[in-house]
Amino acid sequence: MPQGLPAGTSVLVLGGGYTGRRFAAALGPLGASVTLTHRGPEPPEADAPGRRWLRLDPVAGVVPTAEQLAGTTHGLVTIPPDGEGRDPALEALGPALRQLSLQWLGYLSTTGIYGDLQGAWADEDTPPNPGLGRSRARLACERAWLDSGLPVQSFRLPAIYGPGRSPFQGLLTGQGRLVHKPGQVFCRIHVDDIVGALLHCLALPPQRRPAVVNVSDDAPCPSSETLGYAAHLLGYPLPPAQRYADVAPHMSPMALSFWSENRRVSNRLLCLALGYRLRYPSYREGFRASLAEERATASAQVTRPASAAERPAPGTGPEPSARMPA
Ligand SMILES: NC(=O)c1ccc[n+]([C@@H]2O[C@H](COP(=O)([O-])OP(=O)(O)OC[C@H]3O[C@@H](n4cnc5c(N)ncnc54)[C@H](OP(=O)(O)O)[C@@H]3O)[C@@H](O)[C@H]2O)c1
Repeated sequence: MPQGLPAGTSVLVLGGGYTGRRFAAALGPLGASVTLTHRGPEPPEADAPGRRWLRLDPVAGVVPTAEQLAGTTHGLVTIPPDGEGRDPALEALGPALRQLSLQWLGYLSTTGIYGDLQGAWADEDTPPNPGLGRSRARLACERAWLDSGLPVQSFRLPAIYGPGRSPFQGLLTGQGRLVHKPGQVFCRIHVDDIVGALLHCLALPPQRRPAVVNVSDDAPCPSSETLGYAAHLLGYPLPPAQRYADVAPHMSPMALSFWSENRRVSNRLLCLALGYRLRYPSYREGFRASLAEERATASAQVTRPASAAERPAPGTGPEPSARMPA
């Protein structure tokens, strides 16, 4: 990760969601100013020193002005294709972004564009062969960004996990399901390794930046294995194992689509050729860190005195519910 960014670095994060906000949080200490976009009428958090929010809701016709974007040096696109498979960010802001002197623009794509490889490995030279409609839309949007004339680098991501997006809450509330499908693996990446890989590539000389980079950890494996480890960390019993063939008829179309593809995603380009060192090479380190952060956040919320506005009226507060065990 770079030790600091050049003075005047100003980063536009299109989509202040889970990964966008984590990226923004890492940029502040490196000396960058950050602008994030939100879609709803109110930003999810207030502006802070070095960090501001702008509204971007192309459907409602709300798009930041050229004046608001002036001075942007780098960008990150976290906004996915819309329901029609189009790229709302590129359509709304492409011309304005081309007016800026951008040095780097990261685009968050998915490894779904490789399609089903029946458990085989995919690297960046594997021809995309998306089988799902959403992955075909993603590939079209990724290509549109790469062909946009902007200094785009696309980062292909598997399932993102991290604090607040981990299996722990599901286990604590009895919703975790231990499903076994012979031979099936999934790939994943801790959100802070996405942030680390983005910062690593942003700091490379432009001629050393590949157009497309997979960002995946070293440990593709069955979801039953990761759930087992999460239960072990919590000291909770594992839910009963269920055969995929038995539960598939009751799964949602979205869940079924995840189980319909099986591939291992190689990170050799990122970790060997480009020299990025994963903070969380597998779910084991990543889950331990996520649980520690979730517990720290939960205990900070418990010990922080509630403001009068937050305090529930007597008798109207939430029931004691699943809390992170100490
Ligand atoms: N989650 C995963 O496991 C995973 C795996 C592989 C790739 N990806 C991709 O990686 C990217 C980042 O993932 P994430 O989980 O960090 O995403 P996220 O938390 O859902 O954040 C996405 C952001 O984009 C905004 N957005 C979505 N559609 C928009 C639209 N039409 N116009 C304006 N803003 C819009 C969202 O605003 P709202 O808050 O208003 O919705 C949100 O701020 C996404 O493109 C995602 O598809 C995710």
